[in-house]
Amino acid sequence: MTETAPPPAASPLAIIVLAAGKGTRMKSARHKVLHPVAGQPMLEHLLASAAQLAPERSVVVAGHGREQLEAQLGTRAAIAVQEPQLGTGHAVQQAEEALAGFEGDVLILYGDVPFVRPETMRAMIARLHGEDTPAVVVLGFEPEDPLRYGRILAHDDGRIAMMVEYKDATEEQRACTLCNSGLMAVKSQDLFALLAKVENDNAAGEYYLTDIVNVASLEERTCAVIVTDDPDEVGGINSRAELAAAEARWQTRRRERAMADGATLVAPETVFFAWDTVIGQDVMIEPNVVFGPGVTVADDVTIHAFSHLEGATLESGVAIGPYARLRPGAVLKANSKVGNFVEMKKAVLGEGAKANHLSYLGDAEIGAGANIGAGTITCNYDGYFKHKTVIGERAFIGSNSALVAPVKIGADAIVAAGSAVTRDVGDGELRLVRGEQLVKPGWADRFHDTMKQKKKAQKEG
Ligand code: UD1
Ligand code: CA
Repeated sequence: MTETAPPPAASPLAIIVLAAGKGTRMKSARHKVLHPVAGQPMLEHLLASAAQLAPERSVVVAGHGREQLEAQLGTRAAIAVQEPQLGTGHAVQQAEEALAGFEGDVLILYGDVPFVRPETMRAMIARLHGEDTPAVVVLGFEPEDPLRYGRILAHDDGRIAMMVEYKDATEEQRACTLCNSGLMAVKSQDLFALLAKVENDNAAGEYYLTDIVNVASLEERTCAVIVTDDPDEVGGINSRAELAAAEARWQTRRRERAMADGATLVAPETVFFAWDTVIGQDVMIEPNVVFGPGVTVADDVTIHAFSHLEGATLESGVAIGPYARLRPGAVLKANSKVGNFVEMKKAVLGEGAKANHLSYLGDAEIGAGANIGAGTITCNYDGYFKHKTVIGERAFIGSNSALVAPVKIGADAIVAAGSAVTRDVGDGELRLVRGEQLVKPGWADRFHDTMKQKKKAQKEG
């Protein structure tokens, strides 16, 4: 997945992303292209890949649920509205206004086909500028089962004779296994001129984008297909099952990359990465670890089993878990350590500091070399506001202490076990907050004797 920088574009590029379909099979109030893979909407995966080709303009064609797309995209793409949805050709036509004044290459993508590789996109554009100057370049694929995909009837040299939708195809045409992914590259000046000539006299009564190829052929223009060697990259996501399958494929690739980059994954199939996870070298990841978005792991880090991380930064030499929970804003400085059942949120654990067991550290700053005892809780919330706990370097917090924020513990200070600390502790100070201990030698023995006698008398009486 590592990409090299794009060569300087020969001509400007615009992308049109089709996303006006209803997405009925997802059975969701959420727009289909906003369903996440690896913690990020599928549409964002697609836009990130397209961004590697530095498009000058981006248009998303939307129908139902377009407010959700507007909210997601802000000013990053123009939204063209397609209402009603009269087919893929009609959908692309709706982008004409947004592309007014644009002259260059247009790449037509599907919002629900998010994992087309940038190199495939580049190959399509390169083919469009081939010596035979094709009017349309279509991305084809050869799936194991050609199902009901549209068919590309092409010559051996890749020139297309005809495009036909499954619904409209003869048995003979259906026997052709070269399928249309739906993705195309066309020069802007050709695109809208060809689309204007597309009719809807077909089995679906729709304006087919595929017909621009047939129109161009009638005008004696060459159209070309390039075939991807990875049918998975053009797999559409139409259902939750296909979403899960896309997630699984993404995770497999990401795990392979983590290992190729020098991380050990003891049981790779049980480790789940997010789209933006950064993993260093000589990182050891034990089984059953989940990375949410925003995690950066430096070299020589060990992540023990069953840990869950999001929005966390782990510097080199850090060890966490088993069963560590790192939430957004957790920063573990070099060689610090977090043990089992420790939760951190918006908290910095200083260099070499340790919180080995059963703690909640939230809205906290913990100095280098500090030792946070088992069961320490930073009480950061009063029911209305969040407050901060600051712990100095080399401070020792005894087990089961409650640090009631806002509160500061000085450097080298000791907080005795079981203390509920509500006022600041100075450097080098001992703070002990417990009831006075009552000592009564022999009391327990006397107690047991008395009670045993009573019990005996009761039985006999
Ligand atoms: C289309 C292709 C078919 C190809 C298949 C690949 C046409 C006519 N057919 O078929 O050759 O094999 O994709 O999956 O192009 N969309 C709109 N507005 C519309 C209709 C569709 O925005 O009016 C969008 C959808 O949201 C989707 C994409 O276009 O992202 C494809 O639509 P879909 O209905 O899945 O196309 P198919 O008819 O399956
Ligand atoms: Ca489809």
